[in-house]
Amino acid sequence: MDIKPLSNVCGAEVIGFDCGCTIDDATLTQLQQALVDHCVLVFRDQSLTPDQHKAFSVRWGPLKGHLLRQYLMPGHDHVLVISNKKDESGKPVGIEDAGRYWHTDVSYEDVPPMGSLLYGLEVPETGGDTMFANQYRAYESLPPDLKDRVATLRARHRFNYVQIQESATSSRVPLTDEQKAELVGSVHPVVRTHPESGRKALYVNPGFTEALVDVDETEGQILLDKLFDHATDPAVIYRHSWQPHDLVFWDNRCLMHHATPYPETAVRHMHRTTVEGTIPV
Ligand code: OGA
Ligand code: MN
Repeated sequence: MDIKPLSNVCGAEVIGFDCGCTIDDATLTQLQQALVDHCVLVFRDQSLTPDQHKAFSVRWGPLKGHLLRQYLMPGHDHVLVISNKKDESGKPVGIEDAGRYWHTDVSYEDVPPMGSLLYGLEVPETGGDTMFANQYRAYESLPPDLKDRVATLRARHRFNYVQIQESATSSRVPLTDEQKAELVGSVHPVVRTHPESGRKALYVNPGFTEALVDVDETEGQILLDKLFDHATDPAVIYRHSWQPHDLVFWDNRCLMHHATPYPETAVRHMHRTTVEGTIPV
């Protein structure tokens, strides 16, 4: 197994490894270290059933379902389907427009996931890239006054589903009352310390961070916008261009990500598993 960096920002390709195999503890330790070092791991040419995808993912921790239960794979409720395919009745089989904005997965829950593993079964020839923004770099390169200002701040995160549903050209269906009741959101530190690397990273995102806590609303919005601008500077971005059968594993504790558009005529069909994390501190 070889680890080859994909950019000088983040991302590495793991060469010569079959994620469908049983992994021994020594290999797991090596992969865990690679994820800590590179934040995004790319495994090319994988051939994974949903159960194999799950078996690989679960080595990192328990898996999470998703609030949008209608997009979990029937019979495999640990697999979220991201897809523009439709079933015979014309109903989308997955989320068509997942993550078309900068976000960190599920940051609106008290215990957000440590990582997500997205498996591209069918990918467009052009477009549909996923961008990753390194939030260690974003934090480390903050001007000193801004770094001081945000050091002890906390922010409120919420799943803005209604906004997404209304703004998107999408087929997203309204939430049930039960799902709506789960949209309470959560509060997290603006700067978190990664539990494995010990490094500090910015932990706010345009997708789900709605306000700073105990900061005047206008000032808070200005400050957040400044942070978002800084955190998505091209200098901190790795852009992943998908090949069919890539499995991409990213660390939600130190990255934001953003899906990019692709031609309507193309098919993009993916499976995602999501590994539980810890309370951000
Ligand atoms: C996700 C996501 C991005 C993409 O699955 O969490 O944001 O490029 N997907 O599909
Ligand atoms: Mn996402």
